Amino acid sequence: MGTAGGGRAARALRLLLLLVLALAAVEYLFGSILDASPLRTYLYAPMHNVTPSIKNDKQIVAKKLLTQGTESVTNYTHTTNSSNKNPAKETFNMTKPNLSDDTSTPLLITKIMESIKNLVTTEEDFRDEPSLPLCDEMPPDLGPISVNKTEIELDWVEKRYPEVRSGGIYSSSNCTARHRVAIIVPYRDRQQHLAIFLNHMHPFLMKQQIEYGIYIIEQEGTSEFNRAKLMNVGFVESQRQRSWQCFIFHDIDLLPLDSRNMYSCPKQPRHMSASIDKLNFRLPYEDIFGGVSAMTLEQFTKVNGFSNKYWGWGGEDDDMFYRLKKMNYHIARYKMSIARYAMLDHKKSAPNPKRYQLLSQTSKTFQKDGLSTLEYEVIKVTANHLYTHILVNIDERS
Ligand code: BGC
Repeated sequence: MGTAGGGRAARALRLLLLLVLALAAVEYLFGSILDASPLRTYLYAPMHNVTPSIKNDKQIVAKKLLTQGTESVTNYTHTTNSSNKNPAKETFNMTKPNLSDDTSTPLLITKIMESIKNLVTTEEDFRDEPSLPLCDEMPPDLGPISVNKTEIELDWVEKRYPEVRSGGIYSSSNCTARHRVAIIVPYRDRQQHLAIFLNHMHPFLMKQQIEYGIYIIEQEGTSEFNRAKLMNVGFVESQRQRSWQCFIFHDIDLLPLDSRNMYSCPKQPRHMSASIDKLNFRLPYEDIFGGVSAMTLEQFTKVNGFSNKYWGWGGEDDDMFYRLKKMNYHIARYKMSIARYAMLDHKKSAPNPKRYQLLSQTSKTFQKDGLSTLEYEVIKVTANHLYTHILVNIDERS
Protein backbone atom coordinates (compact mmCIF):
# COMPACT_ATOMS: atom_id res chain seq x y z
CA MET A 1 0.00 0.00 0.00
CA GLY A 2 2.78 2.38 1.04
CA THR A 3 4.60 1.75 -2.25
CA ALA A 4 1.38 2.21 -4.30
CA GLY A 5 0.63 5.52 -2.52
CA GLY A 6 4.21 6.69 -3.13
CA GLY A 7 3.87 5.73 -6.86
CA ARG A 8 0.62 7.74 -7.21
CA ALA A 9 2.26 10.76 -5.58
CA ALA A 10 5.25 10.52 -7.93
CA ARG A 11 2.91 10.27 -10.99
CA ALA A 12 0.93 13.31 -9.79
CA LEU A 13 4.16 15.22 -9.33
CA ARG A 14 5.32 14.30 -12.86
CA LEU A 15 1.96 15.38 -14.27
CA LEU A 16 2.16 18.71 -12.46
CA LEU A 17 5.66 19.23 -13.77
CA LEU A 18 4.49 18.48 -17.32
CA LEU A 19 1.63 20.96 -16.95
CA VAL A 20 4.01 23.70 -15.77
CA LEU A 21 6.34 22.95 -18.68
CA ALA A 22 3.43 23.10 -21.16
CA LEU A 23 2.31 26.48 -19.79
CA ALA A 24 5.85 27.81 -20.02
CA ALA A 25 6.03 26.63 -23.65
CA VAL A 26 2.76 28.42 -24.54
CA GLU A 27 4.02 31.61 -22.94
CA TYR A 28 7.33 31.27 -24.75
CA LEU A 29 5.66 30.66 -28.14
CA PHE A 30 3.19 33.51 -28.00
CA GLY A 31 5.56 35.85 -26.22
CA SER A 32 8.39 35.66 -28.72
CA ILE A 33 7.24 34.05 -31.97
CA LEU A 34 4.35 36.42 -32.49
CA ASP A 35 6.60 39.35 -31.92
CA ALA A 36 9.08 38.18 -34.49
CA SER A 37 6.56 37.02 -37.07
CA PRO A 38 5.82 38.80 -40.35
CA LEU A 39 2.66 40.18 -38.76
CA ARG A 40 4.88 42.55 -36.90
CA THR A 41 5.34 44.75 -39.94
CA TYR A 42 1.65 45.54 -39.96
CA LEU A 43 1.80 47.01 -36.55
CA TYR A 44 3.45 50.27 -37.21
CA ALA A 45 1.17 53.24 -37.43
CA PRO A 46 2.04 55.97 -39.89
CA MET A 47 -0.96 58.22 -39.39
CA HIS A 48 -1.17 61.42 -37.40
CA ASN A 49 -3.40 60.06 -34.72
CA VAL A 50 -1.00 57.48 -33.38
CA THR A 51 -0.78 57.56 -29.63
CA PRO A 52 2.82 58.24 -28.80
CA SER A 53 4.34 55.21 -27.16
CA ILE A 54 7.98 55.87 -26.85
CA LYS A 55 9.43 52.77 -25.34
CA ASN A 56 12.65 52.10 -27.16
CA ASP A 57 15.21 53.78 -29.36
CA LYS A 58 14.16 52.15 -32.61
CA GLN A 59 11.80 54.75 -33.90
CA ILE A 60 11.72 57.30 -36.58
CA VAL A 61 13.28 60.59 -35.73
CA ALA A 62 11.39 63.21 -37.69
CA LYS A 63 11.88 66.86 -37.08
CA LYS A 64 10.27 69.44 -39.22
CA LEU A 65 11.87 72.77 -38.65
CA LEU A 66 9.32 74.28 -40.91
CA THR A 67 8.82 76.23 -43.40
CA GLN A 68 8.43 79.62 -44.84
CA GLY A 69 7.40 80.43 -48.37
CA THR A 70 4.46 78.56 -49.69
CA GLU A 71 1.92 76.63 -47.66
CA SER A 72 3.39 74.44 -45.00
CA VAL A 73 2.29 70.99 -44.03
CA THR A 74 2.00 69.61 -40.49
CA ASN A 75 4.29 71.19 -37.98
CA TYR A 76 5.72 68.52 -35.77
CA THR A 77 8.81 67.67 -33.88
CA HIS A 78 10.00 64.33 -32.71
CA THR A 79 10.49 64.09 -29.01
CA THR A 80 11.37 61.22 -26.75
CA ASN A 81 9.00 62.50 -24.11
CA SER A 82 5.52 61.10 -24.63
CA SER A 83 3.72 63.91 -22.79
CA ASN A 84 2.67 66.39 -25.44
CA LYS A 85 1.55 69.55 -23.77
CA ASN A 86 2.40 71.92 -26.56
CA PRO A 87 -0.38 71.69 -29.15
CA ALA A 88 1.90 73.08 -31.86
CA LYS A 89 4.08 70.05 -31.46
CA GLU A 90 3.08 66.57 -32.33
CA THR A 91 4.93 63.40 -31.61
CA PHE A 92 4.84 60.19 -33.55
CA ASN A 93 6.76 57.04 -33.98
CA MET A 94 6.70 53.98 -36.13
CA THR A 95 7.21 51.36 -33.52
CA LYS A 96 4.35 49.02 -32.84
CA PRO A 97 1.50 50.36 -30.75
CA ASN A 98 1.96 49.74 -27.07
CA LEU A 99 0.45 46.32 -26.57
CA SER A 100 2.45 45.51 -23.49
CA ASP A 101 -0.55 45.73 -21.21
CA ASP A 102 -2.26 42.92 -23.06
CA THR A 103 -1.49 39.74 -21.26
CA SER A 104 -4.07 37.60 -23.05
CA THR A 105 -3.01 36.16 -26.39
CA PRO A 106 -6.47 36.27 -28.07
CA LEU A 107 -6.64 39.97 -27.23
CA LEU A 108 -3.21 40.49 -28.71
CA ILE A 109 -4.19 38.74 -31.94
CA THR A 110 -7.40 40.79 -32.14
CA LYS A 111 -5.33 43.96 -31.80
CA ILE A 112 -3.01 42.80 -34.57
CA MET A 113 -5.94 42.10 -36.87
CA GLU A 114 -7.43 45.51 -36.09
CA SER A 115 -4.14 47.18 -36.93
CA ILE A 116 -4.10 45.37 -40.26
CA LYS A 117 -7.67 46.36 -41.01
CA ASN A 118 -7.03 50.00 -40.14
CA LEU A 119 -3.88 50.14 -42.16
CA VAL A 120 -5.27 48.79 -45.38
CA THR A 121 -7.66 51.10 -47.13
CA THR A 122 -9.95 49.09 -49.33
CA GLU A 123 -11.73 50.17 -52.46
CA GLU A 124 -15.01 49.90 -50.53
CA ASP A 125 -13.80 52.52 -48.03
CA PHE A 126 -13.13 54.70 -50.96
CA ARG A 127 -16.58 54.22 -52.43
CA ASP A 128 -18.25 55.49 -49.29
CA GLU A 129 -17.68 59.14 -50.02
CA PRO A 130 -18.41 59.91 -53.67
CA SER A 131 -21.08 62.28 -54.71
CA LEU A 132 -19.67 62.19 -58.24
CA PRO A 133 -19.82 58.97 -60.29
CA LEU A 134 -16.75 56.75 -60.23
CA CYS A 135 -14.19 57.44 -62.95
CA ASP A 136 -13.79 54.86 -65.71
CA GLU A 137 -11.49 51.95 -64.98
CA MET A 138 -9.80 52.68 -68.31
CA PRO A 139 -10.33 56.38 -69.10
CA PRO A 140 -10.77 57.48 -72.73
CA ASP A 141 -8.07 58.69 -75.15
CA LEU A 142 -5.13 56.83 -73.68
CA GLY A 143 -2.22 55.72 -75.85
CA PRO A 144 1.33 56.56 -76.95
CA ILE A 145 2.60 60.03 -75.99
CA SER A 146 5.72 61.99 -76.79
CA VAL A 147 8.30 63.41 -74.42
CA ASN A 148 9.75 66.91 -74.40
CA LYS A 149 13.29 66.69 -73.04
CA THR A 150 14.24 70.34 -73.56
CA GLU A 151 15.18 72.26 -70.45
CA ILE A 152 12.37 74.46 -69.18
CA GLU A 153 11.73 76.80 -66.27
CA LEU A 154 9.66 75.59 -63.35
CA ASP A 155 7.72 78.89 -63.26
CA TRP A 156 6.56 78.26 -66.79
CA VAL A 157 5.42 74.72 -65.94
CA GLU A 158 3.53 75.98 -62.89
CA LYS A 159 1.44 78.30 -65.05
CA ARG A 160 0.46 75.44 -67.34
CA TYR A 161 -1.38 73.43 -64.68
CA PRO A 162 -3.58 75.71 -62.57
CA GLU A 163 -5.90 72.79 -61.77
CA VAL A 164 -3.21 71.08 -59.66
CA ARG A 165 -3.67 71.86 -55.97
CA SER A 166 -0.94 72.98 -53.59
CA GLY A 167 1.53 70.18 -52.87
CA GLY A 168 1.11 68.67 -56.34
CA ILE A 169 -2.22 67.06 -55.50
CA TYR A 170 -4.85 66.44 -58.15
CA SER A 171 -8.18 64.70 -58.56
CA SER A 172 -10.69 65.07 -61.36
CA SER A 173 -13.62 67.42 -60.78
CA ASN A 174 -15.88 65.25 -63.00
CA CYS A 175 -15.62 61.86 -61.35
CA THR A 176 -14.44 60.16 -58.19
CA ALA A 177 -11.06 58.52 -58.67
CA ARG A 178 -10.80 54.76 -58.16
CA HIS A 179 -7.21 54.96 -56.92
CA ARG A 180 -5.41 57.31 -54.56
CA VAL A 181 -1.76 57.16 -55.43
CA ALA A 182 1.33 58.87 -53.99
CA ILE A 183 4.17 59.31 -56.46
CA ILE A 184 7.40 59.12 -54.45
CA VAL A 185 10.51 60.51 -56.13
CA PRO A 186 13.94 60.15 -54.45
CA TYR A 187 15.97 63.23 -55.31
CA ARG A 188 19.28 65.04 -55.15
CA ASP A 189 21.05 67.41 -57.58
CA ARG A 190 18.64 66.96 -60.46
CA GLN A 191 17.31 70.51 -60.80
CA GLN A 192 17.43 70.24 -64.59
CA HIS A 193 15.20 67.14 -64.54
CA LEU A 194 12.60 68.35 -62.08
CA ALA A 195 10.72 70.76 -64.36
CA ILE A 196 10.81 68.31 -67.29
CA PHE A 197 9.51 65.55 -65.02
CA LEU A 198 6.63 67.63 -63.63
CA ASN A 199 5.72 68.97 -67.05
CA HIS A 200 5.42 65.42 -68.33
CA MET A 201 3.88 63.70 -65.34
CA HIS A 202 1.03 66.05 -64.46
CA PRO A 203 -0.84 65.84 -67.78
CA PHE A 204 -0.04 62.11 -67.98
CA LEU A 205 -1.54 61.39 -64.55
CA MET A 206 -4.51 63.74 -65.00
CA LYS A 207 -5.53 61.82 -68.09
CA GLN A 208 -5.61 58.61 -66.07
CA GLN A 209 -8.23 60.12 -63.76
CA ILE A 210 -6.57 58.90 -60.59
CA GLU A 211 -6.19 60.99 -57.46
CA TYR A 212 -2.49 61.58 -56.97
CA GLY A 213 0.16 63.61 -55.20
CA ILE A 214 3.79 64.09 -56.21
CA TYR A 215 6.38 63.95 -53.40
CA ILE A 216 9.99 64.91 -54.07
CA ILE A 217 12.14 63.50 -51.26
CA GLU A 218 15.51 65.23 -51.22
CA GLN A 219 18.51 63.84 -49.38
CA GLU A 220 20.38 66.54 -47.46
CA GLY A 221 24.15 66.46 -47.05
CA THR A 222 26.96 64.77 -48.90
CA SER A 223 26.81 61.11 -47.88
CA GLU A 224 26.25 58.55 -50.61
CA PHE A 225 22.76 58.65 -52.08
CA ASN A 226 20.38 56.20 -50.46
CA ARG A 227 17.47 55.82 -52.86
CA ALA A 228 15.68 53.11 -50.89
CA LYS A 229 15.76 54.93 -47.56
CA LEU A 230 14.43 58.08 -49.22
CA MET A 231 11.55 56.03 -50.61
CA ASN A 232 10.79 54.70 -47.13
CA VAL A 233 10.71 58.31 -45.90
CA GLY A 234 8.44 59.28 -48.80
CA PHE A 235 6.08 56.46 -47.93
CA VAL A 236 5.79 57.52 -44.29
CA GLU A 237 5.61 61.26 -44.88
CA SER A 238 3.08 61.08 -47.71
CA GLN A 239 0.93 58.73 -45.65
CA ARG A 240 1.03 61.18 -42.77
CA GLN A 241 -0.51 63.80 -45.00
CA ARG A 242 -3.20 61.77 -46.70
CA SER A 243 -4.45 58.21 -46.73
CA TRP A 244 -2.89 57.10 -50.01
CA GLN A 245 -3.80 53.58 -51.08
CA CYS A 246 -0.78 52.92 -53.24
CA PHE A 247 2.72 54.18 -53.86
CA ILE A 248 4.62 54.55 -57.09
CA PHE A 249 8.35 54.77 -56.47
CA HIS A 250 9.67 56.75 -59.37
CA ASP A 251 13.11 57.75 -60.65
CA ILE A 252 13.06 61.35 -61.78
CA ASP A 253 14.80 60.59 -65.07
CA LEU A 254 12.16 58.16 -66.36
CA LEU A 255 9.20 59.47 -68.34
CA PRO A 256 6.39 57.14 -69.42
CA LEU A 257 5.72 57.00 -73.15
CA ASP A 258 2.23 55.51 -73.14
CA SER A 259 -0.70 56.68 -71.01
CA ARG A 260 -2.20 53.17 -70.99
CA ASN A 261 0.59 52.46 -68.50
CA MET A 262 -1.90 52.99 -65.67
CA TYR A 263 -0.52 54.34 -62.39
CA SER A 264 -3.26 52.51 -60.52
CA CYS A 265 -3.16 50.29 -57.43
CA PRO A 266 -1.73 46.93 -58.45
CA LYS A 267 -3.13 43.54 -57.41
CA GLN A 268 0.44 42.27 -57.29
CA PRO A 269 3.51 44.55 -56.98
CA ARG A 270 3.99 46.00 -60.45
CA HIS A 271 7.27 46.77 -62.16
CA MET A 272 6.31 49.67 -64.43
CA SER A 273 9.49 50.64 -66.29
CA ALA A 274 10.05 47.35 -68.10
CA SER A 275 10.85 48.87 -71.46
CA ILE A 276 13.32 51.80 -71.46
CA ASP A 277 14.66 53.52 -74.59
CA LYS A 278 18.27 53.58 -73.34
CA LEU A 279 18.08 49.83 -72.75
CA ASN A 280 16.73 49.25 -76.28
CA PHE A 281 13.24 48.67 -74.87
CA ARG A 282 14.38 45.30 -73.48
CA LEU A 283 14.03 43.94 -69.97
CA PRO A 284 17.63 43.64 -68.64
CA TYR A 285 16.77 40.62 -66.45
CA GLU A 286 13.59 38.91 -65.33
CA ASP A 287 13.73 39.90 -61.65
CA ILE A 288 14.43 43.60 -62.15
CA PHE A 289 12.27 45.88 -60.01
CA GLY A 290 14.09 49.23 -60.38
CA GLY A 291 13.23 52.53 -62.07
CA VAL A 292 9.50 52.80 -61.50
CA SER A 293 7.54 50.35 -59.36
CA ALA A 294 4.08 50.29 -57.78
CA MET A 295 2.92 48.73 -54.54
CA THR A 296 -0.15 48.97 -52.38
CA LEU A 297 0.11 50.04 -48.78
CA GLU A 298 -0.50 46.45 -47.73
CA GLN A 299 2.16 44.97 -50.00
CA PHE A 300 4.72 47.58 -48.95
CA THR A 301 4.15 47.19 -45.24
CA LYS A 302 4.10 43.40 -45.42
CA VAL A 303 7.68 43.38 -46.68
CA ASN A 304 8.75 46.02 -44.14
CA GLY A 305 9.35 48.58 -46.90
CA PHE A 306 12.76 48.94 -48.53
CA SER A 307 16.06 48.22 -46.84
CA ASN A 308 17.76 51.28 -45.29
CA LYS A 309 21.24 49.89 -45.89
CA TYR A 310 21.99 50.53 -49.55
CA TRP A 311 24.26 53.60 -49.74
CA GLY A 312 25.40 54.30 -53.30
CA TRP A 313 24.14 52.93 -56.59
CA GLY A 314 22.42 49.58 -57.08
CA GLY A 315 20.96 46.59 -55.32
CA GLU A 316 18.12 48.21 -53.35
CA ASP A 317 15.54 47.29 -55.98
CA ASP A 318 16.82 43.69 -56.13
CA ASP A 319 16.55 43.62 -52.35
CA MET A 320 12.89 44.61 -52.66
CA PHE A 321 12.38 41.85 -55.20
CA TYR A 322 13.69 39.30 -52.67
CA ARG A 323 11.43 40.70 -49.95
CA LEU A 324 8.39 40.40 -52.19
CA LYS A 325 9.34 36.89 -53.23
CA LYS A 326 9.82 35.86 -49.62
CA MET A 327 6.28 37.06 -48.87
CA ASN A 328 4.93 35.09 -51.85
CA TYR A 329 4.17 38.02 -54.13
CA HIS A 330 4.99 37.87 -57.79
CA ILE A 331 5.97 40.77 -60.02
CA ALA A 332 3.37 41.97 -62.51
CA ARG A 333 4.20 43.96 -65.65
CA TYR A 334 2.29 45.58 -68.45
CA LYS A 335 3.10 44.55 -72.01
CA MET A 336 6.47 45.77 -73.27
CA SER A 337 4.67 47.87 -75.89
CA ILE A 338 2.92 49.79 -73.07
CA ALA A 339 5.53 49.83 -70.26
CA ARG A 340 7.74 52.14 -72.33
CA TYR A 341 9.85 54.96 -70.87
CA ALA A 342 12.26 57.60 -72.08
CA MET A 343 15.31 58.11 -69.89
CA LEU A 344 16.80 61.60 -69.39
CA ASP A 345 20.58 61.95 -69.66
CA HIS A 346 22.58 61.88 -66.46
CA LYS A 347 25.98 60.88 -65.14
CA LYS A 348 25.97 57.30 -63.89
CA SER A 349 27.12 56.89 -60.28
CA ALA A 350 29.66 54.31 -59.19
CA PRO A 351 28.02 51.04 -58.12
CA ASN A 352 28.02 50.11 -54.46
CA PRO A 353 30.51 47.22 -54.09
CA LYS A 354 28.78 46.02 -50.90
CA ARG A 355 25.47 45.34 -52.60
CA TYR A 356 25.97 41.63 -53.27
CA GLN A 357 26.96 40.99 -49.67
CA LEU A 358 23.82 42.84 -48.51
CA LEU A 359 21.64 40.98 -50.98
CA SER A 360 22.86 37.62 -49.72
CA GLN A 361 21.33 38.47 -46.33
CA THR A 362 17.99 39.93 -47.41
CA SER A 363 15.72 36.93 -46.96
CA LYS A 364 17.02 36.39 -43.44
CA THR A 365 17.15 39.98 -42.24
CA PHE A 366 14.38 41.94 -43.96
CA GLN A 367 12.10 41.94 -40.94
CA LYS A 368 14.78 43.80 -39.02
CA ASP A 369 15.75 46.30 -41.69
CA GLY A 370 13.19 48.62 -43.26
CA LEU A 371 10.19 50.58 -42.04
CA SER A 372 10.55 49.02 -38.61
CA THR A 373 14.05 50.50 -38.17
CA LEU A 374 13.72 53.70 -40.19
CA GLU A 375 15.23 56.83 -38.64
CA TYR A 376 15.43 60.25 -40.19
CA GLU A 377 15.05 63.93 -39.58
CA VAL A 378 12.77 66.04 -41.70
CA ILE A 379 14.49 69.39 -42.24
CA LYS A 380 11.81 71.15 -44.25
CA VAL A 381 8.52 70.43 -45.94
CA THR A 382 7.21 72.80 -48.58
CA ALA A 383 3.94 72.43 -50.40
CA ASN A 384 4.85 73.89 -53.78
CA HIS A 385 2.24 74.25 -56.46
CA LEU A 386 3.26 71.16 -58.45
CA TYR A 387 4.89 68.98 -55.76
CA THR A 388 5.49 68.53 -52.09
CA HIS A 389 9.18 68.98 -51.35
CA ILE A 390 10.56 67.10 -48.35
CA LEU A 391 14.16 67.82 -47.43
CA VAL A 392 15.45 65.12 -45.14
CA ASN A 393 18.52 64.08 -43.23
CA ILE A 394 18.81 60.30 -43.46
CA ASP A 395 22.37 59.94 -42.19
CA GLU A 396 22.93 57.21 -39.71
CA ARG A 397 23.32 58.45 -36.16
CA SER A 398 26.45 57.11 -34.54
C1 BGC B 1 21.41 46.68 -59.90
C2 BGC B 1 20.03 47.27 -59.84
C3 BGC B 1 19.75 48.00 -61.14
C4 BGC B 1 19.97 47.06 -62.31
C5 BGC B 1 19.68 47.68 -63.66
C6 BGC B 1 21.55 45.79 -61.11
O1 BGC B 1 22.87 45.30 -61.18
O2 BGC B 1 21.64 45.91 -58.72
O3 BGC B 1 19.93 48.15 -58.76
O4 BGC B 1 18.42 48.47 -61.17
O5 BGC B 1 21.27 46.56 -62.27
O6 BGC B 1 20.51 48.73 -63.95
